[in-house]
Amino acid sequence: MRQVEASVVSIREVMPGCYQLCVAAPGIADAAHPGQFVMVRCGDKLTLRRPISIHRVTESGEVYLFFTGAGLARESAVSSGRKIVPVSGKGEGTLWLSRRKKGDKLDLLGPLGNGFTVNPNSRNLLLVAGGIGIAPLVILAERAISQGKFVKLLLGARTKEVLYPGGLLPGGVEVELVTEDGQVGRKGMVSEYVFEYVGWADQIYACGPRAMYESIAREMIERNAEKPVQVSLEVRMGCGVGACYGCSIPTKQGVKRVCLDGPVFNLDEVLLEEVRL
Ligand code: FES
Repeated sequence: MRQVEASVVSIREVMPGCYQLCVAAPGIADAAHPGQFVMVRCGDKLTLRRPISIHRVTESGEVYLFFTGAGLARESAVSSGRKIVPVSGKGEGTLWLSRRKKGDKLDLLGPLGNGFTVNPNSRNLLLVAGGIGIAPLVILAERAISQGKFVKLLLGARTKEVLYPGGLLPGGVEVELVTEDGQVGRKGMVSEYVFEYVGWADQIYACGPRAMYESIAREMIERNAEKPVQVSLEVRMGCGVGACYGCSIPTKQGVKRVCLDGPVFNLDEVLLEEVRL
């Protein structure tokens, strides 16, 4: 883990309210593992850092971060052209972050967390992204493809307007799109299609909302599928380095800290009903 002052290389809104921020941070890029995150200090007045997923890294030392700009109202607010005003400070940090410009300096701490585990013998990886859950899966797909693995991505979103742009995905990923209204790709929830690929996949990785995890877990049990699913949890964090216990969650193995023991857990290990996601 390092604390670095990184320069903003670029920032762009890739979906309504969702930003891809590229910073020059070679020390973090070299050490980053898929599924890890950084803590970003968002402004001088905000004492706490914000956890942001590492989305991609490049060989030239750039780190791409993916985050949402201002709480859950972002999609409709941005797409309708309204000004975003955070309520009670919620989303204030990431709103500040979304306003950074090329050349600005950012204070980053990372890479943090455990990241995903890929078995050397696995050939077929199934990735399941619900909405902005795509954030940590792009770097995983990129690494896996560079190691000669086959990657299938089930990419879901509420509507086509909030679907992650296919052009930003690494080449070689086989993508299946799912939208709730069926305007693009298959209709319904992305979790409904996971089981079609369970037999094919050597390992499964998911990132998305709680309902998606619950649905996958239910289906795995009902169908007696014994394939492990690694999930990335997004919870509120204080320190990000294991000191404050603010990110503690109950698991079958006792209380664990998402920032230190996670953010990646085996789905069957997490007591989902007791976790605030
Ligand atoms: Fe402080 Fe995890 S955020 S222990």
